[in-house]
Amino acid sequence: MRKKIVAGNWKMNKNVTDAQQLMIQLLRYKNNNATNCEVWIAPPALYLTMAKDVFDKGQVGVFSQDMSAYESGAYTGEISADMLQSIDAKGSLIGHSERRQYHNETDAQCNVKVKLALDKGLIPVYCNGETLEQRKAGQHFDVVKTQTETALFTLTADEIKKVVIAYEPVWAIGTGETATPEQAQEIHAHIRNIIAAKYGQDVADEISILYGGSVKPDNAKEIFSQPDIDGGLIGGAALKLEDFSKIIEGFNA
Ligand code: PGA
Repeated sequence: MRKKIVAGNWKMNKNVTDAQQLMIQLLRYKNNNATNCEVWIAPPALYLTMAKDVFDKGQVGVFSQDMSAYESGAYTGEISADMLQSIDAKGSLIGHSERRQYHNETDAQCNVKVKLALDKGLIPVYCNGETLEQRKAGQHFDVVKTQTETALFTLTADEIKKVVIAYEPVWAIGTGETATPEQAQEIHAHIRNIIAAKYGQDVADEISILYGGSVKPDNAKEIFSQPDIDGGLIGGAALKLEDFSKIIEGFNA
């Protein structure tokens, strides 16, 4: 059975005091509530070691928001897969649309990062999704196919099984506009079919595919009830425990 996951992407939010406070609230919540999914967070890199200290028993998986495509050396500002492994992080987001948009990241780079993460025992959360223009032009199926193939299809079957995919239509991120559960399900099934065509249905069925883009307490349950949606990558609504916990509870009952 593939994993159900709710992951919070904090992006570039919160000072150290506020970050610690939210981590402690989340720890208390996890300790007091049985959840039907894994809970992961991707705080700013500066707070990763603090997150590892707070969640010292692995109550919440700790992820970075990005990692370098290089192993080590003169790459100012970057953090490496090795560094993440050395603090026992669980993995890293890779290819978030904001990295693509503001830092010109490509699927070829994502491919290198995904492989590097796997080599270090980290879980890559590979993000893809079409822009509004691409959707309006009816290109969304092709865009997502090309992204998935370019970033992931050099992997072996054993490797790709360890990847988590986050489908995040760019037009739904931070805009308040959510893909309908049907729109999301259609692309999730499409991604799973693409993987099944190359690696077989058994492999495709093991891969968790998360939906991201304006997931909120009031739409999480319906989105998560779709057969090919295995959870969510949550931005804005991950910044307050009240909202994030209700989204986690989208997997209850
Ligand atoms: P959002 O962000 O939930 O604020 O739309 C999702 C994401 O970018 O991962």
